[in-house]
Amino acid sequence: MATTSTEGLYGFLEAMGVEDPSFVSATKELYTNPQAIYFSHLAELIVQLTDCEKDIAYKSIVWANDMTHLVVVAPRLRLKGVDSEDLAADLQQRFPKSPLFGHPVNDGINLLFYFSNTHLARLLLSYVIDRGSSYGNSPLAEAPVEDGAEAQGHKVIVEFSSPNLGKAFTGLHLRSTIIGAFIASIYERLGWDVTRMTFLGDWGKHVGLLAAGWSRFGSDEQFDADPLRHLLDVYNQIEELFKKEQETAKHVPEGQDATEVSHEIEAERDDFFKKLEDGDEEALNLWRRFREVCIARYTELYARLGIRFDDYSGESDVSHETIEEVENALKEKGVYRESDGAWVIDINKNDEKHGAAIARFRNGTTTYLLRDVAAVLERSKKYSFDKMIYVVSVRQTTHFQQVFKVLDLMGRSDLAQRLDHIGFGDVHGLSPKEGTSGLLLGDILDQCADATKLALDTDEETAQLFAEQDPAKVYDGLGAINLMVDDLSSRRGGTFNFDLNKLANPGDYTGLNLQKWYTKLGSKLSGVEIDRGELENTDYSMFEGEDNSYADILRLLVQFPGIMKTSFERLESSQILTFLFNIIDFLPNVWEDEAEAEGSTRNLAKLAFYKCFQIVLENGMRTLGLVPLTA
Ligand code: ARG
Repeated sequence: MATTSTEGLYGFLEAMGVEDPSFVSATKELYTNPQAIYFSHLAELIVQLTDCEKDIAYKSIVWANDMTHLVVVAPRLRLKGVDSEDLAADLQQRFPKSPLFGHPVNDGINLLFYFSNTHLARLLLSYVIDRGSSYGNSPLAEAPVEDGAEAQGHKVIVEFSSPNLGKAFTGLHLRSTIIGAFIASIYERLGWDVTRMTFLGDWGKHVGLLAAGWSRFGSDEQFDADPLRHLLDVYNQIEELFKKEQETAKHVPEGQDATEVSHEIEAERDDFFKKLEDGDEEALNLWRRFREVCIARYTELYARLGIRFDDYSGESDVSHETIEEVENALKEKGVYRESDGAWVIDINKNDEKHGAAIARFRNGTTTYLLRDVAAVLERSKKYSFDKMIYVVSVRQTTHFQQVFKVLDLMGRSDLAQRLDHIGFGDVHGLSPKEGTSGLLLGDILDQCADATKLALDTDEETAQLFAEQDPAKVYDGLGAINLMVDDLSSRRGGTFNFDLNKLANPGDYTGLNLQKWYTKLGSKLSGVEIDRGELENTDYSMFEGEDNSYADILRLLVQFPGIMKTSFERLESSQILTFLFNIIDFLPNVWEDEAEAEGSTRNLAKLAFYKCFQIVLENGMRTLGLVPLTA
């Protein structure tokens, strides 16, 4: 009986000997989180004994620190006039028999519930297999919908990566890419309709500077050969000249007429950007050429990380009309004014010094802030999103606060409320490839692939697993997984140390190790079909007994949906990774190589156990945004 419907789950529990499984229709969480079945059942029994509220009973249940059993913290039942010690003793005595647990142990104040391992296996293995790739996701389509539950199909835009045309791909873009891919995946798994968007910095003064550089250093040949590299070289060269020009302008010797100092590059930069904003065809053609080729290249590079975007939006996409719409709304509210020839928004009227933000420069061109605000209106029209998340370094916190504030000032708090800036800390340790003028995404990925090759050179066993595959693809794929796992296992808010040495060494807490076990499980299970009907009636005695590592793992696997939930609430990937590393730590204890397995008769419960492990590992990896290598 499939455990995915109310009827099915009811029947399943009834067959296991649970006396009154009618609690299964009470909450839809039971259909996504098997731990909730245990908690609910236990809470029911407590209610029967004490007459307390079910919710209170539920909240009195926690996992023991060592994860081997559940604890009912008796004082949390808040029963009036009852001494905790008496209560625990009394409850223990009167506790009814349940097939899911052994009789409770009284530790003085709490009741300890040890799982019946055979029943845990019976329920959990079917439960996980019934859900397969959606185990850990919520909500599940078949689940009964609670009254007043939120409608499904919420739309979220996750904006991440967002590099700049012609400029280096920095460590902050890298982290945005990795963390953004995780956030997009976890939203998807938890039932949201996700649009992955990148906001290409393809507009603004820096594009004007790039064009000024192009007219001096641009080469069609080099651009065709390696566009990202060539544009970066051009940009770096012109930026150097520009800086010199600015320095000179700052230090005009006394007696010299300041107006005679050259502002040639600055003027060229501003002119070009002005031309773009005014729709000059020639300027637009050059810009279009840069943009199209860069997007094509980035698409290939992101694919190496297993990432694809639904929308390559750009700062350029924001239309004049929308910009004006923003400006008019601000004028109407009396917070938009001319100042020194530029246009500013009074973000905070109480703060004379920093209270105003520039929206248009003196020559009339728009700022990052104004374009970002207008982009919100356009995206809202295009996607009617319920939520939009900007995955951008904490260095831009002030910028996003301003964006949200400007929307409020315009009277669009309805939109501001749906926006979220998810920040992250800095990156240390990245450096450009030797002999190049700056960092590109391709360089970073190459470095990771090379480092991973070194790790495989010292880890014969793992290397053997991929021996049949194209080595270049293996290094590239594993390099990406290794890099992503390294970043995702640290806390988002902290600093990420990009450490090639670490990637070049095999270790337990690496992407390489996750992939190793994923591949080993894949080959163990290749061609194995689990007969779900047979599984219900199979022998689960292998899970019995103390110090049973199989059972230790089951008690972790049952917690996976809960881990997904907390990881989602905090948008912290490290919780999922800690969990995955944790279950993998146990795996060698139960691992049988193929020769051993051949010797023992084919054991359905054991195969189902490995299958569930594989499902959880794969779902965890995919939630992180990883694309596991397959044979
Ligand atoms: N391109 C920008 C940068 O490199 C990041 C853009 C972030 N997204 C946004 N909507 N402002 O700093």
